[in-house]
Amino acid sequence: MSETSSDDLTLLSHAGNRPADHHGIINPPVYHASTVLFPTVAALEASLEDRYSHVHYGRYGTPTTFALEEAVAALEGGEKAIALPSGLAAINVALMSFLDSGDHILVSDSVYAPVRTLCDRLLSRFGITATYYDPLIGAGIAELIRPNTRIVYLESPGSLTFEVQDVPAIAAAAHAAGALVVLDNTWATPLFQKPLRHGVDIVIHAATKYIVGHSDAMLGIIVAAKPHWRAMKSCGHAMGFAAAPDDCYLALRGLRTLDVRLRRHEANGLALARWLSGRPEVARLLHPALPGDPGHALWRRDFTGASGLFGVVLKPCPPAALDAMLDGMKLFGMGFSWGGYESLILPVKPARVRSATPWEEDGPTLRVHAGLEGVADQIADLEAGFARLAAAREASS
Ligand SMILES: Cc1ncc(COP(=O)(O)O)c(C=O)c1O
Repeated sequence: MSETSSDDLTLLSHAGNRPADHHGIINPPVYHASTVLFPTVAALEASLEDRYSHVHYGRYGTPTTFALEEAVAALEGGEKAIALPSGLAAINVALMSFLDSGDHILVSDSVYAPVRTLCDRLLSRFGITATYYDPLIGAGIAELIRPNTRIVYLESPGSLTFEVQDVPAIAAAAHAAGALVVLDNTWATPLFQKPLRHGVDIVIHAATKYIVGHSDAMLGIIVAAKPHWRAMKSCGHAMGFAAAPDDCYLALRGLRTLDVRLRRHEANGLALARWLSGRPEVARLLHPALPGDPGHALWRRDFTGASGLFGVVLKPCPPAALDAMLDGMKLFGMGFSWGGYESLILPVKPARVRSATPWEEDGPTLRVHAGLEGVADQIADLEAGFARLAAAREASS
């Protein structure tokens, strides 16, 4: 863990804001738009010439969208960012922009499960094949690259099982074969990992998570260097995607406090993980910032912090005992997504969403999101949960 750089802190506070353009108002207002009027035929023609750099039609974005895109691109060190209606929409656009019929894509086995659905059920219909690889493969990925491999798709760490990948080694092998490298950076956010510096070509964020940070908006963002963003802007537009202006506003507002929120998520997550590692019910923690974690060395090399999402594998217990633990939680809510201010806990089944590297843990796996509540209260909630688990196990024996 290291301090956020002064440059990033200043970008978080100011990037994308232009008060002088908005009567001195600090936050860019929410522009709702479909039709944009042109005063003359000449102005209309000129606007058609370069639709991506100004307000042209609502679907291409408004000053609210542009402000968010500018800020995220600056934080990632990319040329341009593109806001899309969800993280999954961003993934779709990043893949569909570059894959053609007959192409092959390499996808990490630890990937966010709907990406598998996209590859196996949708892209496959267009003659695109996917191979899933061991997230720990590193430079060995070279052996899986085929002449028609167009994209290597990474999520590091994986948001279910938390393996950290050797991104520079994978990127070097992919580039040597002429393939693009796409990485989902949602877990780390632009503050804790800078994938473009490690050889990645296209970075994806489910801004729905930490960037929005309050569980009240759906949004995705892609960041890329020049040769790639134009193709993606064009593809996103062809698919009819438009990020909602209110959600862009919420994401930009969330960004302003990202560092202070993430630091608390990180501290609470580590405190919970350490406490859990001392519990008799726990078999194993999945948290790359813990020194014993298999991904710790790579995490130390490539990341500057850890967010608040991690996994815990419990020792085998009767399903009803696990239900008793989870059903009675007071602070930890059960639900999908993560990255908001509140704590979450979710039973997950990694074995169901892997094909290259079987998940062989006997006990149940829980995904924990450490929210911003007091850590003593979070621990008390988990402790009470373990007491319910023990009581239910006792009752059933
Ligand atoms: C790692 C990761 N990427 C992408 C997504 C998709 O984001 P969204 O829910 O905004 O479509 C998720 C959602 O949970 C995720 O966990």
